[in-house]
Order: sequence, then C-alpha cells, then structure tokens
Amino acid sequence: MIIAANLKTNLTREKSVKYIKEVENFLDKNSISQEVLVFPAISNLNRHSGRVTIGTQNAYPTINGAFTGEIGYEQLEEFGIKTILIGHSERRHVIGETQEMLVKKFDFYKELGFKIIYCVGEPLEVREAGHEKMMEYISKQYAGIDVTYENLIIAYEPVWAIGTGLTPTLEDIVAIHKELKAKSSAPLLYGGSVKVTNAKEVLALEGVDGILVGSAALYVEHFCTMCEYAEKLNK
Ligand code: PGA
Repeated sequence: MIIAANLKTNLTREKSVKYIKEVENFLDKNSISQEVLVFPAISNLNRHSGRVTIGTQNAYPTINGAFTGEIGYEQLEEFGIKTILIGHSERRHVIGETQEMLVKKFDFYKELGFKIIYCVGEPLEVREAGHEKMMEYISKQYAGIDVTYENLIIAYEPVWAIGTGLTPTLEDIVAIHKELKAKSSAPLLYGGSVKVTNAKEVLALEGVDGILVGSAALYVEHFCTMCEYAEKLNK
C-alpha cells in the first residue's frame, strides 16, 4: 500500500529532517515494507536515501528560467527528487491553478519520468448538486491527463474533507473509488481528514490502495501508526 504525508507549509528545515529520520527509524524497526512518501515544504527538500521517498508539493514545468517564486527541475535534481504532487486542491482552489496548467506540469514531469501523485476531488457545492454532477466535475479533472502513465498514482480527495475533520461515508469512498478505478488502473489513494482513528478502516476498503494524509501526518507518531496499519493489512 502507499502511505503519503503532505506536510504542506509546515515545519522548518530542521524539523523536517527530524521528522523524516523518525519515520525512517520506525519503518526500519518495524520492518515496514509499504511505499511511504513524504512531501515536505519546498524549502525543506533535501537529498535523502532510505525507505521513505521524498517528493515535492509543487514545481513549475521548466528546467530553470525566469519564473519568480517557483522552482524547476534543476532545483529538484540537486536533491535527487523524482516525485511530485500535482493538482492538490489547495493548488487548484487557493492558488488558482487551472486544469491547463496542471496538464502542462503533468506532461513535463512525466517526460522526465517522475512519479506523479495526481489529485482529484470535488468541492461541497458540487457534491451537493448530486452524483452525476459530481462525477462530471471529477471527470473534467482527468482531461488531458495520461491515465495510463506507468508512474502515476491518483489521489481522490474531496475538497470539503480536506482539513475539516469531515469525511465521506466508507460506502461513499468505496463507490467513488470504484468509478475512478474504471477511469484508470493507477493505484488510487483516499485523502481528506484521514486520522489514526479512521485510517485503519479507510485502508481496508475495497479500491483503496493507500492514503494521503495532511494535518494528522504532522504528528509523526500518528503517521507512523498509519504506516503500521497498512503493513498489517498488506493488501
Ligand atoms: P487533511 O489533508 O488530511 O488535513 O485533510 C489532506 C491533504 O490535503 O492531502
């Protein structure tokens, strides 16, 4: 299974290094063989070798150049980063990235062989408009994306569940994952208010290949426990 921590704009460089070291030690001590990914803030990226794969939360589709405030491949290459999160709801809805921009990023980093965790998910008003409207909305987030890309992982993250403590019902997660699995055979993660208290049951669901965790992952021991749950399920 795949267990991913999105640390967002949290932790300092020193704290991120400590965080990753603690996860490494835990995985080692408990012989956890699941795929564990950590996405620290961009300023905290570092070269790392171990069981944990370090990914970037964002990058511009460029090797380098005049893109003030952005980073490109050259800055990732320095640290051997080959994993990227694309389409996270905060990039779409807070930063305002369009589907067109996400496709550009996708194509650029796909060309470089990156592992891409591509996020999809609907805002509350779309969900409330009914199932058909919701699936229509999510389908548009697949537009232009090569769903057959071998290094692709998809994360279904309902926007209204991110950082809110709200989650869809387990039945809803199974049903949506089933529909999304029909669009792509890439591993499919669930994200949105996954905590130690619900991670075990979410991980056990049919069609769930892992989890993408934000707020709860900031507690390193909670994140480690979730990795342990995944190991025990070993789906
Ligand atoms: P959350 O965030 O776990 O805090 O809901 C998940 C995410 O943004 O990936």
